Amino acid sequence: GSGKEGDYEELYKVVIIGDSGVGKSNLLSRYSRDEFHVKSKATIGVEFQTQAVDVGDDSGRHVQVQIWDTAGQERFRAVTSAYYRGALGALIVYDVTRKLTFENTARWLEELRMHSNTTIVIMLVGNKSDLEEAREVSIGEGSTYAEAKGLIFMETSALNANNVSCAFEMVVREIH
Ligand code: GTP
Ligand code: MG
Repeated sequence: GSGKEGDYEELYKVVIIGDSGVGKSNLLSRYSRDEFHVKSKATIGVEFQTQAVDVGDDSGRHVQVQIWDTAGQERFRAVTSAYYRGALGALIVYDVTRKLTFENTARWLEELRMHSNTTIVIMLVGNKSDLEEAREVSIGEGSTYAEAKGLIFMETSALNANNVSCAFEMVVREIH
């Protein structure tokens, strides 16, 4: 855009969900502030960050993306319907070193489908890809499951930043 006054800027809401400890808050802090926290506290309630993202279609245009992060732990979660309201994109995150968090993505997907529009763009994210020696879920398992459910798939590491921007930007471009 020209940056002139009155330029129209779109605002996309993207939500991050998944079990506690899979790295949702660190994915967001890595993406929005390039920060990683070795010892991060469990999220209580909801946090969000707004970020300008290049839409990648040669127009040079940006959209504002509001990325919402909530607690994986039930007792710390915010009002579910409000969290999902208006979301155009979602990242369902699991930890590649904890099989149970991968299995639980089915429940997160179900909740997401119940509370969101059918056109929502959904990415399945296998985080902590840096912990290769502790891996319990292979890339193949992740991608096969994602394909079966019609989701985009990516493995990330909030620790070494691998694929983090790429994941958020791919969701935004799919929405766009
Ligand atoms: P809740 O807020 O409780 O839902 O958890 P969360 O999903 O936000 O997890 P959080 O980002 O707080 O990360 C949990 C722990 O995993 C922290 O100790 C992080 O340092 C660690 N962690 C997050 N991402 C990665 C990663 O990509 N690699 C490694 N090795 N550790 C990670
Ligand atoms: Mg958190």
